[in-house]
Amino acid sequence: MTNRKRPKVYITRKLPDAVETRMRELFEAELNVDDKPRTREELIAAVKTADVLVPTVTDRIDAALIAEAGPQMKLIASFSNGTDHIDIDAAAKKGITVTNTPNVLTEDTADMTMALILAVPRRLVQGARVLMDKPGEWEGWSPTWMLGRRIWGKRIGIIGMGRIGTAVARRAKAFGLSIHYHNRKRVNPATEDELEATYWDSLDQMLARVDIVSVNCPSTPATFHLLSARRLALLQPTSYVVNTARGDIIDEDALIQALRAGKIAGAGLDVFENEPAVNPKLVKLANEGKVVLLPHTGSATIEGRIDMGDKVIINIRTYFDGHRPPNRVLPNRG
Ligand code: DGY
Repeated sequence: MTNRKRPKVYITRKLPDAVETRMRELFEAELNVDDKPRTREELIAAVKTADVLVPTVTDRIDAALIAEAGPQMKLIASFSNGTDHIDIDAAAKKGITVTNTPNVLTEDTADMTMALILAVPRRLVQGARVLMDKPGEWEGWSPTWMLGRRIWGKRIGIIGMGRIGTAVARRAKAFGLSIHYHNRKRVNPATEDELEATYWDSLDQMLARVDIVSVNCPSTPATFHLLSARRLALLQPTSYVVNTARGDIIDEDALIQALRAGKIAGAGLDVFENEPAVNPKLVKLANEGKVVLLPHTGSATIEGRIDMGDKVIINIRTYFDGHRPPNRVLPNRG
């Protein structure tokens, strides 16, 4: 690309050095090396002058912000898999293309989901804490001390059998769990056979029958509080809930109530309804060993972040080379 044609690209957060360097080589890239989240005012100023906005899941790219965009703004190339932070309809109406970074987060997120599936029943954090907080107090192995619950032989119910849900299912099967899933559409027979998976078109019926629930669907208006108080009440008292998707898919207050009342056994959460704020009641439950909390690190690997950056660059380049970017996100018409 010549200097003259270089698109002006505004990046809202610090990205890996390798990605930033490549972006500076290719684009008129405005970086955020301090990683201080951009204010609303800064974002408004950016969409008035930049050709491309590169937001992350921490930026709210809503209709009001998109309305401020100048005619030069052509592309929102999100550094994310999820796009619930962007009003895709408003962008489409304004003629702005939206892209994301699918596929490259799948395996890392599935690994972390598996870690959370194991963490609560096997009391991983509680055990580690014994040695970190009070190392001298450990009296050694005991047949009845620090017992958790086994996971092999149990049933997992996966909500959302897309790329990440399927990758979780593959891991869970290898750990000896039997796979159940609920999805808008049944997956293809070959995948169902490979995973020996049982499909439930009724989420309610599946919830009542599984030991571990893994939330792996996107956040959309249709999935808001999908795990409502009523649905959480369908779970067995020995069951666990794991969420590495988005916080608002679970009614967090209802989850807290169910955990406190012993209506479910535990939860592993990487995402929260009001991120980055975490409900203090959840922290209390974590200290009691009923939940394990992670700070939205499901996809946080160096390799994954570089792959995401590469995808953003490819999307920008293909767009400005006059082609359709590979990871275009279309408005949901259904
Ligand atoms: C995404 O990109 O959607 C993820 O939530 C980041 O982990």
